[in-house]
Amino acid sequence: MQPVILDNLVGELREARAVVVLTGAGVSAESGIPTFRDAMEGLWAKYDPSQLATPEAFDRDSEIVTRWYDWRREKCATAKPNPAHLALARLEEHLATPERGFTLLTQNVDRLHQAAGSRNVVELHGTLWVWRCTRCGIEREERTVPFQEYPPRCACGGARRPAVVWFGEMLPEQALKQAHDALATCDFFFSVGTSAVVEPAANFIYSVRHRGAKTVEINRDATPISRVVDWSLLGKAGEVLPELVRRAFGI
Ligand code: APR
Repeated sequence: MQPVILDNLVGELREARAVVVLTGAGVSAESGIPTFRDAMEGLWAKYDPSQLATPEAFDRDSEIVTRWYDWRREKCATAKPNPAHLALARLEEHLATPERGFTLLTQNVDRLHQAAGSRNVVELHGTLWVWRCTRCGIEREERTVPFQEYPPRCACGGARRPAVVWFGEMLPEQALKQAHDALATCDFFFSVGTSAVVEPAANFIYSVRHRGAKTVEINRDATPISRVVDWSLLGKAGEVLPELVRRAFGI
């Protein structure tokens, strides 16, 4: 079935000058990466992710937490960008001109947007491909899967942790500033594949609406912001986004 894309949305999008897209786990779901709130599989079925992705969990049992991240790294290592990631990369290519702008804010830590070709990506929650020493603070890209030890160790002997934002932690200052700068000037805002409940991203929609930006949500299910946006498109991101950019820009 073709996703329903409203004509007035297509028309308004053609006029957009500065587009900001916020993405969440739903965008990577069609690449085979389970969303945070989906049931976990196999060995990990008995764990609750919100109990693993915390500094307290790492302090309590760094082995189990880093093994869980290694399982997720393994899934991400073999995953490929899906049509939603690719459509966003095409949209950026089309809009990134001196007169227009495009910023992708992602809560995803898998780097599939970059793999699809997106360039102006702000990683709000960090990435699981970078690991930081809990003793000396040095960060290093870590692409080899699986690790040889849990937790992996830094040359200084300290335990390393993923450079992701855990529950209860602050977002990286630089990423947050980039996000706020983009939100302060955008005239079109998309929320795609996110449950829209985790702050501060959950609040973005209200700040851009307040400024008069047009707002769109693309999600498989209704969320708390579905009634707030100008257009709520219910459907899979990998189907709706390609159809929208094709209709709007022929790309
Ligand atoms: N297309 C569009 N939306 C989808 C699809 C799909 N194929 N599959 C799932 N969804 C939607 C779900 O309906 C849900 O609203 O994606 C959303 C995923 O929500 P979450 O799992 O809560 O992911 P996210 O919003 O990214 O979570 C934000 O919270 O758990 C923490 O740090 C974690 O980055 C994460 C943050």
